[in-house]
Parts: sequence; structure tokens; C-alpha cells
Amino acid sequence: MGNDPDGRAQHLSHTGHEDHRVDQACEDASLSAVSQDETFAAVLQAFMSRRTLLKGAMTSLVLAYASPLTRFSTAAESKGFVPLTHSTEDKLLIPDGYQYDVIIRWGDPVFPDTPAFNPRAQQPAIQARQFGYNADFIGFLPLPAGSTNSERGLLVVNHEYTNPELMFADWDGKDESKTRMMVDIELAAHGLAVIEVQRDAKGGWSYVQNSSFNRRLTAETPMVLSGPAAGSPRLKTSSDSTGTRVQGTLNNCSAGVTPWGTVLTAEENFQQYFGGSVEAITDQTVQSLHKRYGVQDEYGWARHYDRFDVTKEPYEPFRFGWVVEIDPYDPSSMPAKRTALGRFRHEAATTVINKDGRAVVYTGDDGRFEYLYKFVSTGRYDSGNRPANIGLLDAGTLYVAKFRDDGTGEWMPLVFGQSPLTPANGFESQADVLIATRRAADLLKATKMDRPEDVEAHPKTGKVYAVMTNNTRRTPDQVDKANPRPDNKHGHIIELVEDGGEHSATTFRWDLLIACGDPNNPSDNASYQGHKDTSWMSCPDNIAFDDAGRLWVATDGQPATIKHNDAVYVVEVEGPQRGVAKMFMSGLPGGEICGPAFTPDNRTFFLAIQHPGEGKGATFTNPLSRFPDYQRDMPPRPSVVAIYRADGGKVGS
Ligand code: FEO
Ligand code: CA
Ligand code: CA
Ligand code: CA
Repeated sequence: MGNDPDGRAQHLSHTGHEDHRVDQACEDASLSAVSQDETFAAVLQAFMSRRTLLKGAMTSLVLAYASPLTRFSTAAESKGFVPLTHSTEDKLLIPDGYQYDVIIRWGDPVFPDTPAFNPRAQQPAIQARQFGYNADFIGFLPLPAGSTNSERGLLVVNHEYTNPELMFADWDGKDESKTRMMVDIELAAHGLAVIEVQRDAKGGWSYVQNSSFNRRLTAETPMVLSGPAAGSPRLKTSSDSTGTRVQGTLNNCSAGVTPWGTVLTAEENFQQYFGGSVEAITDQTVQSLHKRYGVQDEYGWARHYDRFDVTKEPYEPFRFGWVVEIDPYDPSSMPAKRTALGRFRHEAATTVINKDGRAVVYTGDDGRFEYLYKFVSTGRYDSGNRPANIGLLDAGTLYVAKFRDDGTGEWMPLVFGQSPLTPANGFESQADVLIATRRAADLLKATKMDRPEDVEAHPKTGKVYAVMTNNTRRTPDQVDKANPRPDNKHGHIIELVEDGGEHSATTFRWDLLIACGDPNNPSDNASYQGHKDTSWMSCPDNIAFDDAGRLWVATDGQPATIKHNDAVYVVEVEGPQRGVAKMFMSGLPGGEICGPAFTPDNRTFFLAIQHPGEGKGATFTNPLSRFPDYQRDMPPRPSVVAIYRADGGKVGS
């Protein structure tokens, strides 16, 4: 969200159109993210068949099912769908012939002994066992493990941030009024959830409250720091003299499922949780780094916890802004912050296997004029050795992208000792480079992008698609071919082709797939590969590919830019219709749409409805939406929905 720079909700939001006070081509058939016979499902099957990790799988065969919380359907059945049009209704809209189930909402019990949700009697310990707030990323991991089952699986869901103004009935919006209990509830509402879900005979979905896989991770769950920066003096605090153990994960925005069946969850706007005085930090390097990352309190947690006060714990922010690897198939596993992937406001982390077996992770830094990165592992993926795969991301090379105006580009390594990342510029180790990734990329003169959000590789062509959501601060003298519009309020999507069909390549070619906005409004300067007869979008954010190779795009910011609700579009990326978008769903007032994810059979499409009802002046008693319950005494609840065709066919076909 974020349509009002002066509103309280704006400062509490993580993202959206004007977030934060931050200043901040040709087809190559040989290019393949995963070879034709080694699709994600096949890779997953290969490792899962080893069955070393399936301790809980059989025990959960005796299951208790909840009915879908709510089921909505449209009247007609049809093949394909008629594109929707932009809406401001307080109603989730889907095409004729489709229906959706609300699977789980903020506050729903994750465990059998969790009490029913009562928004007027919230408690931290209960919230830690309920579904958290602001669902963002969704990953579907089939169950039983080792299968490509589309009937049953685990949903791994990020809980990106909290909206206390919508959560608490008795909060006046002032930091000094926020009680320790409210803060503790917020801490417990962050993090992730792992939830078992099950398809019913009618194609609908519900979650399994007593599944042994269910798990909540919060801002207080113990995690380790691993990789080159682990143990760095800059990561040591009064509660952790080793620099290797962290309390919790924060602002998990998007993420990615790895080919070895873990989830890489991205810590995005971690900077907004730290109070105290950055100016008062005597170490000028630390102070300037916190400024470079925009550390500035938006939550008031430092009033209750020293670890969120940079005056008392100046290094604590260095322990956030990482990619965290989580094994959802093992509820007892310890999450690991993979420092080799760099520290910045990670939006997502998308893994593909290079031809030679090395793992490549694409990840963007969602800030205005920030950068696009990728990581290439040193070791190689081994479908028969899952424990080794889980350690793959601790050693390798992090690169940052340089886009040239001639349509070529370069991945520049961020390696200590290679000029300019030397002691002369304040770097004494690779740990220093990784902790100060933004500064290292500045020195390499990487290309400053229009807020990199999600990145995905096409499952068949291997082309990489990177979303730039918007950047209204880009001035005419700052444009380049990869960020071609000043005052870029609508955003764009870049298509990147790695040279030689190798995801490990250090050079690439690139093109613009879409410049968002209205192609029939000349002032938007929008482009959909020349097509005018198309749905049109603004502020693209999360993306996913379906099994036909079409790109599904969820937006975050349309209420601000086009005065309509955020929506989901499907975009053709190949053939004569390349660039044409069709609007598939319209969301709720104040809410962005996140987490697009398909079951392997492509018959179910999961989406997260994030911060419904958020906006200027919106409160617990006066939200912009009351989705999904629409009850007068119930605030809006961030939720996960499953959309499917009434006739059981593939979504979007
Ligand atoms: Fe959390 Fe960049 O969106
Ligand atoms: Ca966003
Ligand atoms: Ca996002
Ligand atoms: Ca994605």
C-alpha cells in the first residue's frame, strides 16, 4: 500500500507505491533453467524419494480437516476466461467459471490446542500459535514428500509486517501508547507459517489444523547465521557473542522454493524496526551503513526492547536483511540466514540449477535506485544428497547487475580483494562486503533500478524476468534504457537472457517486456510489445509462471496510481501475443495481492490477500475493507485464498 505519504498507515507499511522515507532477446532454445526432463517437480521427486526427511509424513496420514472457511463461486462455467476490468469494489472478483476458498486468515489456529481468534482479546502466546499477519509469499510443497501430488501439500507463507492500526481496537496510533503486549503480539504476528492444506472432492481447499508439519516462525524464533559473514565482529551483540545466532526473522516479503524443497524467504524492509539514534552511534562506519540502509523506526519496538534500539545495540540491524533458508518438511529444523547472498532489502530469492549443477539465486533489492543481484554457488546440486544441497548457498559468488543501453549487461562480482572492494575502501573481509552489500555495489557502479521486486526464470526458455515496481523519484536526467521513464509511477518488467544459456554467465542480453500503465494513454508512455488491445496494469510486484509458460503478475500500488484495487494479470511472454495481459482477479480496497503459486497440476492458484482495508485514516473500527468476514465487529484479516475452475480444469486455460 502506501498511497499517502503523510498518513500514519503509510509509515507503517512495508512497501507499495510511495513507501518509506527512503532516499534512496531472442529465443535460445538451449537456454534452460532446469532441463526439460528435470522440471522442479522431477527434481523434488528425486530428492524426496530418498525419504530421509519424512519423519512426520506418515504420522499425518490420519488427519482432521476443517471445511473451507468460506467459498465463493461465479455462475457460469467456461473454458478460458473473459478478462476483468479495474474495480474499486470491496469484493474479490474472479472470472466466470471460477470459485475461490478462503483457506486461512490472520488469527486462525495453526495447532489443535490454539484458541479461536478473538481480536479483542489477543495475546502474544496465542498469536504465536495462530496464522500471522500480512500474508505475502506462498510456496506449495507437495505431500507426501517425494510426490508431485496436487491434492495435498504444505503452504509456506510469509507474514511480512503488521498493521497495528487495523489489528488493535484500543490503540490511538501513537508509539508511546503502544504497550509491550501489543509489541509482543506484533513480534508473534511476523515471520512465517507452514500449514498443511488439502484439496476436497470438489476441488476446494482447507487447512489441516492438526498436521504435524504445521509451524509458526516469528520475530523471536531462534535462527543461525551461516556463510562467510557468520561470526563477523559486526554481527556480535550483547545477547550473542558468537555472531551466529539470531532471534527471529523480519519483514519476510517474497521468497522462493528451492529445487531441493526448502524455502528461501527474503528479509525486506528490516530497517523500519530499529529505533534509538543512528546519529549517536560513534563508529562512523556503522552509522553511515545504517544510513545507507535507511534505518529509521516505524514501529516503536525500541521503547520496549533494547535489541531494537541502535543506541544500545548498534549491530543488531546487521543481523537482518538476509535471505533465510527454511526446511518446511522438518518442523524442528533451524532456519539459517545465508549471508553469502548479501545483505539488503531482499524482495525475493529464486533458485535455478545451472547446466553444470551449480545453484543460481536471483534476488533484488527493493529500494529506489537499488540493484539486481544473483548468487552462483561453488558446489553443485546433487539430487541424491539433500543435506549437501541445503548447505549449497553458504559458498559462492554474489554478483550485481550492470545494464547497458545497447541491450547487453554484465554481472559484476562482489568479491573482497578485487578492486574496489579492498581495505582502501574500508573492506577487510568478504564478511564486510556482504554486510555492506549496498555500498559494495555502489562502488562497482551497478545500475540503479526502479525498485526491483520479484524475479522468476521461465521454466522452459530459461529467460529471467525481473519486476521493477515503480520509482517516482527518477528524474529525466536519470533515465537509462533499463529504467526508461522519469517519474516511473507504473513500473516495468525486464526480460534477461543469460549468455550461452548459462545461468552462471557473467554477461547477458536484456529487453523490456512491458512498460506498465495504459497503452492508450499517451502520457503513460506504456508498452505491451506494441499491443493496445490488452488489459493494463500498474505497480507489478510478485510474479509466477504457470505450466504453459505464461507469466502471472500480482500488483502492489494500483490504489495509489490508478485509483483502483490491486489485481492479478496473466501475460503472454512468447509468440504473437507476447506482451498481451489479461486481468484475472481484482482485489480489495487497500490490499495488495501477493504470493501467486500453482499446484503442480496447475488446477489451483493460491494467492495472498495482504493488508486488506489499509489506507489513510483506516483503523480497527473504520477499515477500508472488512474482507474476508465482512462482519461489523471483525477487522479485515490478511488471508490466503485458493482459486480454481468449477469444472476442474487448469487455471487460466
Ligand atoms: Fe514487500 Fe517489495 O514488497
Ligand atoms: Ca511492493
Ligand atoms: Ca513485494
Ligand atoms: Ca515469485
